[in-house]
Amino acid sequence: MCGIVAGRTVRPVGTYLVEALGRLEYRGYDSAGIATVDDAEQLLTIKTVDRVDDLGRQVALEPRLWRATHGIGHTRWATHGAVSVRNAHPHTDCHGRIAIVHNGVVANADALRAELVAGGHLLTSDVDSEVIAHLVETHLARHDLHTSVELTVNRLEGSWAIVVLDVRTGGLVAAAHQSPLVMARSSHGDFVASDISAIADWVDEFRVLEDGDVVQVSPVARWRRRGVPVLASELRPCTVQPGDLSLGRYPDFMSKEIDEQPAVAERVLDAWATGASGPDLWRSLALPPFRRVAVLGCGTSLNAGRAIAGILGRVGNVPHQEIIASEASDAVLEPGTLLIALSQSGETADVLRGLDALEPAGASVLAITNNEHSALGRRADAVMACHAGTEVGVAASKTFTAQLLTGACVAVSALVAHGRLDPFDAQRLTSDLKRVPELLSQALAASRRSVPPLVDGMTEARGFVFLGRGAATVFADEGALKLKELTYRWAESYPAGELKHGPLALVEEGTPVIVVGDQDDRLAASIAEVRARGGLVTQIGGPAADIPALGHSTDPYAVAGLPWCGPLESVVALQTLARELAVALGRDVDKPRNLAKSVTVE
Ligand code: M6R
Repeated sequence: MCGIVAGRTVRPVGTYLVEALGRLEYRGYDSAGIATVDDAEQLLTIKTVDRVDDLGRQVALEPRLWRATHGIGHTRWATHGAVSVRNAHPHTDCHGRIAIVHNGVVANADALRAELVAGGHLLTSDVDSEVIAHLVETHLARHDLHTSVELTVNRLEGSWAIVVLDVRTGGLVAAAHQSPLVMARSSHGDFVASDISAIADWVDEFRVLEDGDVVQVSPVARWRRRGVPVLASELRPCTVQPGDLSLGRYPDFMSKEIDEQPAVAERVLDAWATGASGPDLWRSLALPPFRRVAVLGCGTSLNAGRAIAGILGRVGNVPHQEIIASEASDAVLEPGTLLIALSQSGETADVLRGLDALEPAGASVLAITNNEHSALGRRADAVMACHAGTEVGVAASKTFTAQLLTGACVAVSALVAHGRLDPFDAQRLTSDLKRVPELLSQALAASRRSVPPLVDGMTEARGFVFLGRGAATVFADEGALKLKELTYRWAESYPAGELKHGPLALVEEGTPVIVVGDQDDRLAASIAEVRARGGLVTQIGGPAADIPALGHSTDPYAVAGLPWCGPLESVVALQTLARELAVALGRDVDKPRNLAKSVTVE
């Protein structure tokens, strides 16, 4: 949550900051701001509670910015303090010498604020981050900026990615602890950002700040970790694809990313399917054998994990449990558990703290993430990249499919390696997986045709019910999550058999009830119960369904769908439904209210 950028650039820094903030806006869009040093060596800040586009207009009109070459920028997801210009970053010290941007939470801000106020400091916002600027100010009287920032972070509890700008010297210092930050240099200058995609147009390689790092952003970066000089962290190649960050012919990133799923599936299978039909893929991860599996994640990533756990259970009889990351402290892991942690960003605080909580159990950790260089990737015993490409829409779409397929590949291979699956059957399952891109393409075509007319009858509905059975349940859950997130309408998801145990009371004349799957006879009974109460059933299933998205194949001999994976193509229909309804309701489908893509606070 919150996006940070800083630059010391050869050309005016304002345009770099604004462009980077535009790419970081997925991390929060409550307000945006920048701080630079003008010609007269005075601090210049520009802030808005509008979007980054508005900040860009203000920056373009500010002549004092035209020659500024170093500065910091921030896009906010509000934690402490209302959404207002006063609370927007950057925050400054008493005398306008120091400006800071911060992502994270200063857990002991109240105590520090009281101490600073008692010491005569004037704090002007409600934001926890402001104390950082004033703490740096207190140390600058006796120390250089680098040391002042070190002494400051020693006082902080919580999490932070910080960049501090000293107006007097033009110094920039970055620090990180449990919040992501990368640093890079190129012919454009030196940059710091929350995410490499923000600066990917200008750099080819980058370094990741580790917890405890305090780094001077200068041609000769001074790198210290918990007070000790260390070598700069390893250089990593920037792999962001240029097309990932542009809309192309699409009206929004959500529609682009839904559409990309067949191609993403091809990419995932190219990467992982070859080793999946035997033990090789599993063995390449060098993880110890397991007897049970636990999946850990939040939101859509947890749903992908649940689908993977289901595969391990259905195909290999592996006992499994699912752990909502924010509740991990109550989870009990049995010996011999493989913990599969899923997170597209790899920076989700709940997942990282969940790992902390589960660490004493000693389980080996396999990360499935779209960001191998993330904190999760660095921390796990083995990492599998899910190759989805950058996902810009706040609602996860292609990363769900990519995580699920990555997990399906490793599940098949692991089951062979553990003697739970015959290699011949593994070959068959891997061939099945190779049909997924085509199944997704057909599902996309069917959804594009059949969803828009259905949505017309749903715009007035206050709430929605989603139903599935067995392997379909997790897809129904994912559909409900997507609908809530994009349309701001209530959506309840249940295994269909549970309907009569309570949720049926929600169904009245015209209540939309979305049913995922049509392969289970018992669903018919649930559908009849809904129809008897006037509910408006929309079924996602085979050729006769309202949304005929499941099991299409141009291969007449192929079995419809992949029953052992569940109706994974249904996700395309569910995403399309949520997006179409959101568009019809005038919602911002790429940036739903109150949310951010990378949730780096607990
Ligand atoms: O980056 P992560 O995959 O760890 O994020 C987890 C959730 O915050 C995320 O999946 C969220 O539920 C999505 N916005 C849902 O579309």
